[in-house]
Amino acid sequence: MSERVLVKTLISKSREELKNSTPQMIDSSILVKGWVRSLRKSKKLSFIMLNDGSTQQSIQVVVEDSIHQYDQISSMITGFCISVRGLLKESQGQGQSVEILAKEITILGGVTAEYPLQKKSTSLEFLREIAHLRPRTNTFGAVFRVRHAICFATHKFFNDHGFFYIHPPITTGSDCEGAGQMFRVTTLNVADPTTLPMINTDTDKNKVDFSKDFYGKETHLTVSGQLEAECMCLGLGSVYSFGPTFRAENSNTPRHLSEFWMIEPEMAFYDLDDTATLAANYIKYLIGYVLDNCDNELKFLEEREDGDKELRERLKSLRYADFKRITYTDAMKILEDAQKNSGADFEFKPFWGCDLQTEHERYLTEKHFAGPVIVTDYPKDIKAFYMKQNDDGKTVRAMDVLVPGVGEIIGGSQREDDYNKLLARIHDMKLEEKDYWWYLDLRKFGSAPHSGFGLGLERAVMYITGISNIRDVIPFPRYSKNAEF
Ligand code: 4AD
Ligand code: MG
Repeated sequence: MSERVLVKTLISKSREELKNSTPQMIDSSILVKGWVRSLRKSKKLSFIMLNDGSTQQSIQVVVEDSIHQYDQISSMITGFCISVRGLLKESQGQGQSVEILAKEITILGGVTAEYPLQKKSTSLEFLREIAHLRPRTNTFGAVFRVRHAICFATHKFFNDHGFFYIHPPITTGSDCEGAGQMFRVTTLNVADPTTLPMINTDTDKNKVDFSKDFYGKETHLTVSGQLEAECMCLGLGSVYSFGPTFRAENSNTPRHLSEFWMIEPEMAFYDLDDTATLAANYIKYLIGYVLDNCDNELKFLEEREDGDKELRERLKSLRYADFKRITYTDAMKILEDAQKNSGADFEFKPFWGCDLQTEHERYLTEKHFAGPVIVTDYPKDIKAFYMKQNDDGKTVRAMDVLVPGVGEIIGGSQREDDYNKLLARIHDMKLEEKDYWWYLDLRKFGSAPHSGFGLGLERAVMYITGISNIRDVIPFPRYSKNAEF
């Protein structure tokens, strides 16, 4: 075990705690390792701000000219990686409670003049091009520590509510959302089409024979683990999955990725109202957890040049807020009314039956409700095949949670638990019945009312950090024409 101490341990404790700790820390010899954020140099004394990633703050290292190789050490620039052995001292200066008086500094990794992070401020767009280095910046340190907190809080929330963590497959033979935006998984050699096994019969001409492919059928990367989660919940009660999902949609927007992470709870015996309540409580729990555990990160994100100055205030008021609920039909009335009477000038004119566009979501969450809103009971024609049909024959028991700034953060529904209705819908939507035989079986044997939803992790991170582009809340974003790193 290394005796290295995390900067977090030193900074998060007060002087008093450090004085009274065993082993006593103040004035004791400490080893820290990290990266130089800045260096202020004078003839006799230099000050290094050292960050080891464990926390938002850097620790000040005071270097006297008596130290071995002072000249070399005091000429380091931003980005150097060093190991510091020294005495932990109460700081005389402002802005920090403790600092380290260096006794020995070893350079672990130097930096050449081309190091792109030397400039004080760099745009998020620029940092996207050097995503391999951006974890060393304050902004990305903050974002990824908050992202971690959200993941941890997710497991805690569901565990504390009696949910079991399950793992649906990543490779699948069925299309959950039926939107046909899937990435193919194959071992056939597409690089050399002459090697592809072909079917050429009287009825089928020039078709690739996927029975010769690795799995003996067509397979894709999953767009959602929901269908498998449904199987699991109809045995275990309440389950949740948390995994990567893949969508080959060509939407070049600040809210879409082609590889993102989704948290999908699925509950037997829950109806749509129970599910909407769970969704709101879950989001509020995440917000509360981040407020309680990431204050320094949130403060930093607020103070960024284009940061959301009301971030913490907004999160605090959301923590105990009511999430308004409204049916799609009523939401449409609000939008149509806004278009007619309140001067809202939507590019896409709202009408019953249309999918909610970003501008509509923004109007509802930012102008009309000024907060999150849960929209329920969408027209069946704009939703997936598995949603429970309402008696009106037109709508389904769907819900989307919309929030200001981000739009849709959760999509969910009560599932159709009636065998005949589900089968009819599969036929209506021209899906292959044979692909869903096991899913239909669930409705043949001990079917139960059940519901669930999916929260897009990156959308949640955007919402809670106030970062406005989804590409800045995942380490290595994947989207159309971009799979760098
Ligand atoms: O609304 P979606 O498509 O719902 C489902 O996939 C359901 N099967 C979930 C369920 O009921 N178990 O996606 C759920 C959420 C969205 O609300 C959004 O937050 C996120 O996943 N999402 C995306 N995030 C980033 N990039 C994309 N391309 C996304 N597509 C959906
Ligand atoms: Mg959706």
